[in-house]
Amino acid sequence: MAGATAPYTTLSLEHDGPVAVVTLQRPERMNALSKVLLHEIGAVFTALAADSTVRAVVLTGSGEKAFCAGADLKERQGMSEDDVRGLLGLYRESFGAVDRCPKPVVAAIQGVALGGGFELALACDLRVASEGAVVGLPETSLAIIPGAGGTQRLPRLVGVGRAKEMILLARRYPAREALALGLVTEVAAAGESALAAAKRLVAPLAAGAPIALAAAMEALDGGADLDLAEGLLLESRCYEKTLVSGDRREALAAFSEGRKPVYRGE
Ligand code: COA
Repeated sequence: MAGATAPYTTLSLEHDGPVAVVTLQRPERMNALSKVLLHEIGAVFTALAADSTVRAVVLTGSGEKAFCAGADLKERQGMSEDDVRGLLGLYRESFGAVDRCPKPVVAAIQGVALGGGFELALACDLRVASEGAVVGLPETSLAIIPGAGGTQRLPRLVGVGRAKEMILLARRYPAREALALGLVTEVAAAGESALAAAKRLVAPLAAGAPIALAAAMEALDGGADLDLAEGLLLESRCYEKTLVSGDRREALAAFSEGRKPVYRGE
């Protein structure tokens, strides 16, 4: 993998062709979300959104044990109530940058994704888990609630009933159960890492039509809170972006010529 590492201290960024791989690099703290890491997540996803060479992103954690164990509970110990309020704003900003990224973002969950760690995975478009992965939102057992989007993104993914079960009971779900509930998209094969499985999943996205993928995400994410009439208008606006694209003409030409399309994002 050809490396292109910006001056990040708590995560790494590598480029594997058109796929960017962002790795949380705090294995000694189970990749827990320190203030610096949150800033860097926001910065790297803002940069990736603007990088036309990047067609898809995999987000993962270093080490075998954790994708991310959530808030850095040690750092939080010394914080005032105002500090924590400020931190919640930082979570919203950073995870918002992940959510708004116009390239498909796949979380590769190796080990645990707990609290803010699972909320980070929820801000991604798709989630792949290793066989031994465990996901959960244990916040209510710590006398708080998920504050980085969990109470909002989770019910949009699996419905309010399932979200209540997960959040009120603070339950942790092993990978296969998470798959059955729709919390993750795919579980890696036995012996396969979450990263390898995520790269497999992301390959067709990286070769896909970027304008169409971005438009589909915009319509899906933006439409979740709209009534049907408004949602259909949003869909029309998003469709229009694909209608005028060279990639749409390339798809039709490739079909009639019996070859694979080559999409340029134009
Ligand atoms: N913040 C800061 N440090 C963390 C952390 C967190 N969220 N989660 C784990 N760590 C640290 C541990 O303190 C430990 O460091 P130490 O050896 O210096 O004490 C190291 O990571 C390894 O953790 P440990 O608990 O020994 O590993 P484990 O395999 O037995 O358990 C977890 C791993 C993730 C299941 C367990 O650490 C845990 O439950 N962490 C809290 C997760 C959580 O509730 N997150 C939601 C916060 S809202």
